[in-house]
Amino acid sequence: MSRSTMVQIHGGTVVTASDTFVADVIIDNGKIVALTAPSVSPAGPSLEVIDATGKYVIPGGIDCHTHMEMPFGGTFASDTFESGTIAAAHGGTTTIVDFAIQAKGSTLRAGLDAWHAKAEGNAAIDYSFHMIMTEANAGTLEEMGQLVREGVTSFKMFMAYPGVFMVDDEQIFRAMLRAGELGALITMHAEIGLPLDILIKRALGEGHTAPIYHALSRPEIAEATGTERAIALAEMAKVPVYMVHLSAQRALERVMEARDRGLPAYAETCPQYLFLDEDYLRGEPGNEFKGAGYVATPALRAKHHQEHLWRGLRNYDLSVVATDHCPFCMKDQKELGRNDFSKIPNGMPGVETRLHLLWEGVTQKKISMNRFVEITSTAPAKIFGMYGKKGTLAVGADADVVVWDPNKPKKLGVDTLHMKVDYSPYEGRVVPGSPSHVLSRGELVVENDKWVGKQKKGRGQFVRRGTFNL
Ligand code: URP
Ligand code: ZN
Ligand code: ZN
Repeated sequence: MSRSTMVQIHGGTVVTASDTFVADVIIDNGKIVALTAPSVSPAGPSLEVIDATGKYVIPGGIDCHTHMEMPFGGTFASDTFESGTIAAAHGGTTTIVDFAIQAKGSTLRAGLDAWHAKAEGNAAIDYSFHMIMTEANAGTLEEMGQLVREGVTSFKMFMAYPGVFMVDDEQIFRAMLRAGELGALITMHAEIGLPLDILIKRALGEGHTAPIYHALSRPEIAEATGTERAIALAEMAKVPVYMVHLSAQRALERVMEARDRGLPAYAETCPQYLFLDEDYLRGEPGNEFKGAGYVATPALRAKHHQEHLWRGLRNYDLSVVATDHCPFCMKDQKELGRNDFSKIPNGMPGVETRLHLLWEGVTQKKISMNRFVEITSTAPAKIFGMYGKKGTLAVGADADVVVWDPNKPKKLGVDTLHMKVDYSPYEGRVVPGSPSHVLSRGELVVENDKWVGKQKKGRGQFVRRGTFNL
């Protein structure tokens, strides 16, 4: 039997969610087999050495909120599983959890199979799925059990987007009860959609068509109320609940209240809510439509929300930073809403820039290095049933490892990034650090911004996740 080359990541400072220490990471057959003092590290002909001197060695990022090729508003998110996962790896993310969608009137099975078909043979890094439930009826509630057995252990439901994704409280509650039986986790898009639709129609009726009206017709109270309601339903069902893409102070306060009462309420925020604000939706003088590039849901908020979100991350009221990566090109896609902001496909690119941006938060002392690792890798692994295999640097874990160079600034922009989209919301921003090496299951796939893996397309594997266990 041929023996694989062992890899030694030498001389770096290992950073996990809990510890920071100097050690070498030894990898064999795609797994971490030892963490050793550098002085006693093995050496030998079959050892490939990566010099991490002066750098940090961290677990590969886990982005638990992406939408590759997602159908939305008459078009599809512009990144495929191939292009989006290649971009993710360049940014230090080695696992994504994407959202499979149940088409209305169809089954969870058909939706999940369709997403497996998109990802299998295409994804360059490991991937898993949440299941979006657009109907919770006897059939789909039954099907949840089969999905959980197949490693799809979390489900997303929407209080927003009436007629497309929205489900009512009865369906949410039934799905929560079923999730409780199965050990699955319900994740929630918590904006109350019916009043928002009326606000949108009223704005359009008054002749307001520009992108800024996306934010003006989606006030934060709709998210705060949805968050409170989702938590109330979960409390009645006696199950945990996870708020996706939390964007604003009052919604966060609802999560804080729940957590203070000891409820298992979890929430993620996204870089766009930490680094951008609603003024971006105004575009530029003479080019208001540039704001379309910043249309995502929930909408970007006023700047003062950012400090609350950073505090929430420091205080453990927010558990995760994921991206909600859902890119649409300005040309031909965002353009669909040139004369009607409600037709601008919702979403922004982000899968490649999450670690870069959050590292800036570390250098600005908004979060510690250990918290950076926790919110980008360890916590999503724990919450979504991957911990041990993913999310930390420990003996026996998959060798998804990033060597992070704190002295490698990068100018973010369409020319320097790999996402398949014709603009960057962060164009021209210079961030202070970057990955120098990215390993996926022990294989060096990205080195100094270049793909060096043997295979690209299709090397990613589906990750069967365990049930909720916190
Ligand atoms: O604007 C967004 N967030 N697009 C993706 C769909 C969703 O609600 O996550
Ligand atoms: Zn959502
Ligand atoms: Zn999303």
